Amino acid sequence: MCKKIVKGRVLQNIEIATDVYRMVIENKEIATLASCGQFVNVYPKRSHTLLPRPISICEIARDTITLVYGVLGAGTKEFASYKVGTSIKLSTAVGTGFKPQDTEMAVLVGGGIGVPPLVELAKQLTCPKIAVIGFRDEPFLKAELEKAGAKVYIATESGKEGFKGNVLELIKEEGIQGDYFYSCGPKVMLKALADYCSEKNIPIQISLEERMGCGYGACVGCVCKIKASTETGYEHKKVCKDGPVFLGSEVIWND
Ligand SMILES: Cc1cc2nc3c(=O)[nH]c(=O)nc-3n(C[C@H](O)[C@H](O)[C@H](O)COP(=O)(O)OP(=O)(O)OC[C@H]3O[C@@H](n4cnc5c(N)ncnc54)[C@H](O)[C@@H]3O)c2cc1C
Ligand code: FES
Repeated sequence: MCKKIVKGRVLQNIEIATDVYRMVIENKEIATLASCGQFVNVYPKRSHTLLPRPISICEIARDTITLVYGVLGAGTKEFASYKVGTSIKLSTAVGTGFKPQDTEMAVLVGGGIGVPPLVELAKQLTCPKIAVIGFRDEPFLKAELEKAGAKVYIATESGKEGFKGNVLELIKEEGIQGDYFYSCGPKVMLKALADYCSEKNIPIQISLEERMGCGYGACVGCVCKIKASTETGYEHKKVCKDGPVFLGSEVIWND
């Protein structure tokens, strides 16, 4: 994987939901090379948070990329403090992203902070599409998905907006059907969806947002088990390099 670190200029960094920020970064090289489902490694400036933070690319424009991130710990807290004009250090886009398929009806399923990469995917899918997005309490990115041509269904655990429950319950309740699924979100949600698609014999691409170390394939901080015709029946793959997107049917979940 090519590790190229560049500088980007913050053009916008605003809170779009409680503790969720949209950051628009200007860098033509990143924007030109990026594809949907890839991520960038963003370097905090403070020395006690040395490792870069992987953040998915939410949208790609001619000279900019957009990231949408939740504030969790020291790194993302620092990102939230950046003002317009701040110069930041980040990688060009890395990882193996989504492969958009031309099908009859694509269903994009996102959970919480896993929703952002589905926006660029929706923009690039030329076929009809539905987005089913779930949150604990407060939805975001609905308008962006609609603008990308998706019919959007919302689930919230609290019942504050849309269906009260999770995305899979909503899919079943509404009888949402498609011939190809894509998903990003918590592992428990991805596994449930992969099982659901397997039962119905529908292909699904899933983005695994594992914890990472280096973010470039140089450590083994992010391995997952992928089915293979080896003696053990599996091989280890690096989420940062071979993924984050895999076929749901090739992931071994029970570890
Ligand atoms: C490929 C990939 C894409 C990602 N895309 C996005 C994105 O688009 N938007 C976004 O908000 N986040 C995304 N994440 C998660 C993001 O990288 C972490 O939230 C971030 O690194 C936390 O850094 P921090 O310094 O704020 O928190 P830390 O101080 O490092 O950790 C604070 C808390 O966050 C948890 N945490 C740390 N890393 C992760 C992780 N990878 N997944 C879940 N919980 C984590 C820790 O367990 C801890 O509880 C992505 C992760 C990966 C691997
Ligand atoms: S994070 Fe180091 S190999 Fe993936």
